[in-house]
Amino acid sequence: MQMQNSFSNLILGGGDVPKRRRLLYRLAKSAPQVLVEYVKDFSRYLKFSGTLDGTPAENLLARITATYHNIEKGLSLPQPRLGFGKENLTNLILAMQKYQRLYGPTHPILSSAHEVLATYARYHESRNYPDYPCKQEIQKMLAAAPQADVQMGGTRLVQRETIMNAVAPVSEEFFMQRHSVRAFSDREVDIADIEAAVRVAQKSPVVCNRQSGAVHIIADPELIKAALDLQMGARGFSQAVNKLLVVTVDLRNFWQAGERNQGWMDGGMFAMSLIYGLHLRGLGSCCLNWSKTNSQTQAMRELVGLQPWDSIIMLIAVGHIPEEVVVPFSSRKDPLLVTRVIKNWKK
Ligand SMILES: Cc1cc2nc3c(=O)[nH]c(=O)nc-3n(C[C@H](O)[C@H](O)[C@H](O)COP(=O)(O)O)c2cc1C
Repeated sequence: MQMQNSFSNLILGGGDVPKRRRLLYRLAKSAPQVLVEYVKDFSRYLKFSGTLDGTPAENLLARITATYHNIEKGLSLPQPRLGFGKENLTNLILAMQKYQRLYGPTHPILSSAHEVLATYARYHESRNYPDYPCKQEIQKMLAAAPQADVQMGGTRLVQRETIMNAVAPVSEEFFMQRHSVRAFSDREVDIADIEAAVRVAQKSPVVCNRQSGAVHIIADPELIKAALDLQMGARGFSQAVNKLLVVTVDLRNFWQAGERNQGWMDGGMFAMSLIYGLHLRGLGSCCLNWSKTNSQTQAMRELVGLQPWDSIIMLIAVGHIPEEVVVPFSSRKDPLLVTRVIKNWKK
């Protein structure tokens, strides 16, 4: 609201003169840079997302994943409607055929899609609904598909008890005892522990099961230093960082205007689970912001060998926690201040 007032004062001529001068100065100084960065973000998004061209392999695989997942979701509803999903089935089959024509017959994502089609067919056949949409194409695709050794798609039945057994040993303390740690012991961090944390990160909810998140582990001390020099937020503890993680998302998983920011959601959730995965292994971590311009991001890409479609979500410093460590108190707001119960939307 205050910003709106400032902006309307500037446009409409309200407010006192020194204040308007200050605003004009800030506008002239910052707005062009903000605009330039938006334009660069915009052109990168158009270049690498599937908005203009869904044909490159990764863009096509993302489409296949999103589409098979729509069918998978439909199959997991309490009572899937018989004959549902004609448009998704048609789009999925076309995209799968296109991928196979351009890039070859097999890919793990195609195996998942095949299993979804098989589950769809079985569901309808078991309910005496033989004339389900795209039946011929589905049967043709399944006849040509290699048999998967392990389940790659479809649905699975989960017992509540299984979930409760997994939840029971975890208390709120697990979350309350995660701190951003900025002092680490000399002990070497085992890459296997980070890989275990990556498995946890990969279980994060993610849009239509498109898996855009990735972790780049920097183990070389000189490269850690160079990357932290670019990041500039680890002053005073950079030398103690044992491994430095660069969390990225692949822009090729997204398309159209509505998804322009989706990578930041998926990447943020991926990073949070990664941090809990590290915490579970007893490792200390500290997120390090990547609130940077496109040219700073390009410098980091060149330094650690990222691809142009990789967007950097954040860096994470990792190390073993010393016997005692001082952490900032990092007070939180009263939960009631950030929680609103809406009982009757008309009031
Ligand atoms: C995206 C993100 C970027 C951050 N960047 C930095 C950073 O550059 N340097 C730093 O020391 N801490 C950084 N932090 C850590 C925060 O300061 C910290 O999470 C916050 O104060 C809450 O403290 P806690 O994590 O111990 O609960 C960052 C946290 C997040 C989520």
